[in-house]
Amino acid sequence: MKFSIIAFVGSLITSASALQNYQTADKQLNITSPLLHGTYVAGQILPLSYIPINSKVALNIYLKGGDNETAIALDADTSNDPTNNAPIKVDNATYYQHSINYVIPTTYSAGNYECIFENTASGSNTSIPISLLAYIPPSDASSVIATAAPTASAVTETSILIAQPSKA
Ligand SMILES: *[C@@H]1O[C@H](CO)[C@@H](O)[C@H](O)[C@H]1NC(C)=O
Ligand SMILES: *[C@@H]1O[C@H](CO)[C@@H](O)[C@H](O)[C@H]1NC(C)=O
Ligand SMILES: *[C@@H]1O[C@H](CO)[C@@H](O)[C@H](O)[C@H]1NC(C)=O
Ligand SMILES: *[C@@H]1O[C@H](CO)[C@@H](O)[C@H](O)[C@H]1NC(C)=O
Repeated sequence: MKFSIIAFVGSLITSASALQNYQTADKQLNITSPLLHGTYVAGQILPLSYIPINSKVALNIYLKGGDNETAIALDADTSNDPTNNAPIKVDNATYYQHSINYVIPTTYSAGNYECIFENTASGSNTSIPISLLAYIPPSDASSVIATAAPTASAVTETSILIAQPSKA
């Protein structure tokens, strides 16, 4: 009995972390990356991935920390273009997952940030809270290896997560 409970909890955790498919309140967009409360590193990639559910979505994406805000993508691609985007079939409908690899500026300080997905078609903003770790300058090779290793694997894991829906 105890074993099956442990196995069940384990599978819940696995399925929760295996795939984020976060739907915005207006139900027009699914955000698969960045991960809610995910940790990313200045100077490295912030992977963005989204699936327009509704063809009317008009998307701007921002990275905001404190008073500072940067536009990652204005009028981001939301087209149903099978050449550049991964098709996903849900029931009988085909959707397209779009990906942007944004390199976080090295000047960004560590702290809490929001990745804001603004859908100007519905007038609704969706905020994905993330944390940034400070840039690690490559000049100090030993600290790069020591500090960057766990983060590098987190980024790799994220790109595996992004790849999953396209296999479905
Ligand atoms: C979008 O997300 C919702 C909620 O997670 C899910 O039910 C739906 O199947 C997703 N749609 C696509 C195309 O991924
Ligand atoms: C905003 O950016 C400036 C210049 O990069 C920096 O000095 C300041 O600390 C940042 N403020 C916040 C709240 O992150
Ligand atoms: C998908 O299409 C088939 C054949 O047209 C239909 O029988 C089925 O009900 C459809 N499923 C959904 C979920 O719309
Ligand atoms: C959505 O976020 C953008 C960027 O921060 C901002 O300019 C806009 O006013 C926000 N819109 C709403 C409805 O909050």
